Amino acid sequence: MRKIFISAVCLLLWAAAGASADTSQGLCSPAPGSPEDIIPVPYSYEMHDGVFILEPGMAFCIKGSEADGAADLASTLLELPYGLVQTDRAAKADIIITVGDGHKGNDANVSDESYRIKVSPKKITIDAPSFAGAFYAVQSIIQMAEYGRVGECGGAGQNQAQSAIQCCTITDSPRFGYRGLHFDVSRHFRSKEFLMKQMDAMALLKLNRMHLHLTDGAGWRLEIDAYPRLTEFAAWRPYRRWSDWWNSERHYCESSTAGAYGGYYTKDDIREILEYAEKRHIEVIPEIEMPGHSDEVTAAYPWMSCNGEQYGNCDICPGKESTYGFLETVLTEVADLFPSGYIHIGGDEASKEAWKTCPDCRKRMEEERLENVDELQSYLIRRIEKFAHSLGKRIIGWDEILQGGLAPDATVMSWRGTEGGIEALKSGHDVIMTPGEYCYLNYTQDAPFKEPVSIGGYATLEKTYSYEPAEPGLDSGQLSHLLGVQGNVWAEYITDDQGAEYMYYPRAFAIAETGWSRPEAKDYADFRERALMMIDVLRDKGYNTFDLANEYGERKESLVPVEHLATGCEVIYGIPYNDKYPASGESSLTDGHLGGWSYGDGRWQGFLTDTDVTVDLGSMQPVHYIGATFMQILSAWVYLPEKVEISISDDGEDFRRVGTIYRDLSDKAEGLYFKTYSVVCNENCRYVRIHAYRQDKEGAWLFTDEIVVN
Ligand code: ACM
Ligand code: ZN
Repeated sequence: MRKIFISAVCLLLWAAAGASADTSQGLCSPAPGSPEDIIPVPYSYEMHDGVFILEPGMAFCIKGSEADGAADLASTLLELPYGLVQTDRAAKADIIITVGDGHKGNDANVSDESYRIKVSPKKITIDAPSFAGAFYAVQSIIQMAEYGRVGECGGAGQNQAQSAIQCCTITDSPRFGYRGLHFDVSRHFRSKEFLMKQMDAMALLKLNRMHLHLTDGAGWRLEIDAYPRLTEFAAWRPYRRWSDWWNSERHYCESSTAGAYGGYYTKDDIREILEYAEKRHIEVIPEIEMPGHSDEVTAAYPWMSCNGEQYGNCDICPGKESTYGFLETVLTEVADLFPSGYIHIGGDEASKEAWKTCPDCRKRMEEERLENVDELQSYLIRRIEKFAHSLGKRIIGWDEILQGGLAPDATVMSWRGTEGGIEALKSGHDVIMTPGEYCYLNYTQDAPFKEPVSIGGYATLEKTYSYEPAEPGLDSGQLSHLLGVQGNVWAEYITDDQGAEYMYYPRAFAIAETGWSRPEAKDYADFRERALMMIDVLRDKGYNTFDLANEYGERKESLVPVEHLATGCEVIYGIPYNDKYPASGESSLTDGHLGGWSYGDGRWQGFLTDTDVTVDLGSMQPVHYIGATFMQILSAWVYLPEKVEISISDDGEDFRRVGTIYRDLSDKAEGLYFKTYSVVCNENCRYVRIHAYRQDKEGAWLFTDEIVVN
């Protein structure tokens, strides 16, 4: 917790430590950086009296049986803005790092990523079993040093050379081995420099997996020698904005076309990214999406689709043998390039429609005795898994790879809630949890009226932080397959780099703490304080973060229940609500709970039809107000109704209209809007009917939260 202060205690401690900090007028002595400040919370720590002053010219020494493997640590330390120098002689060093014989974990976990730090007034000693642990010890020191900088008052990152670090002992190791962030470089290509910059932040947060979503309909992003059209053509589109491209014919263009938007990584680019990652103990996991989300593949090589046509096929054809030749060649090149033990093969959201009538797919299903298209997908994934094994790799897939039967050794990335992940854990498969509700960092993180246009959803820092991946009911054997957690940022609506960073930070801090720290050690109020400090550090380093200090919060109307005449009354549905968005079922529209910012928060009821509901007040009542709120968020195909007719009745048979209210917002207005369609009247009735007319658009949703009557 941050306390900027010039306290007698602090100055005394500094004096005791022989501190030479200039504390003359105009300079600020912050509280020394301490283990209490670190994100993610260390496994355990103790505070001791005294302060260590880190200052230019101090020497570090790296020794121990694994010191050779930790050579990269020296460059990390030498590149820090603290003016450190290296020495071979431990006796001369202010920071002594022993790699190879150190702390190996805690009671629950033995891990190469563990470390122990002891900070005393004269010395910092670090013990770790490997480069990884020593690297993370250094990250903890960096965090404390950033917070303890001495200089002009005004927050972290001051350009002064000294830092004060609280004397302490830290014993640390991670809860999970997989702590990831996902980068959707297909919807918008990001430069290698952008990825490297994010690796710096990831390292500071002890995040160790970068999942690159390299291929998708919006563009193929990896040079493949055998298939040059993937990057000459399918990596470029005539629109910058994804939504403009999506709403167009979704064509690609030659890289040489004027105005072509896109890009790709050459193999040399990837080698550079990998080298950077290795120094930061980050494993880069490539995703090559199949068999869905592959419009760009079928556009570049139309023979990969069922009907051989260039456009209109988002799935590749699992019937044709040539498909496997393509995939195996691509995967071989990918495996040669990336050292990770994993290749992510996607597997999500294939439409599978064309397969039902494709002669090649039907023949394959007959020959392989596959009952349905789910099993055909499973056939493809199993075959690809076998091939990946021949390359020495294992596969990861989104949870749809469970459909039709899970490949024997596949790791499941659970995104559609946690059910898929739980099912996979129960069958002994490895799982990475990334449920959308908590871990989709592209969801809006604050009141949408003040946030950038997003794909919808609402996941505040607190919501992301609240995620606990070890579901109750799983035994320790099953939980041993829970590899960890990941935050995903899908980039449809995130055009530029700054916008992307805004979505990652600070929510990536929450992913980091969930992945690393013990659940008992998590506390949102305390975390929020530390997150504010870390935001200052990142901003000072040039990252664009969300402004947590000025968070607006949830839709005010949703915070307190409302009492009204219809509360608890029966609702009669003229047309049923949609099963995907039932809210709390038939009592939802009169339960006194208004919805929040997200249609997915369990309070908004969804309709893919008109909304036609009648509330029975139970007896004749004087009524002077009737209203229902609807929302519009185009990125999620949610529209305000064209009009809402409000009628009343004494007997539930004969209704008389008391108002018709029309939409007064453009159906092209992006962003999130709410409109209450209401009438003020002076009537007596028992029944109140709301008929909301859906816009005449394929797939348009209506969402409402409560029929309020007074
Ligand atoms: C996904 O969000 N389609 C994995
Ligand atoms: Zn086919």
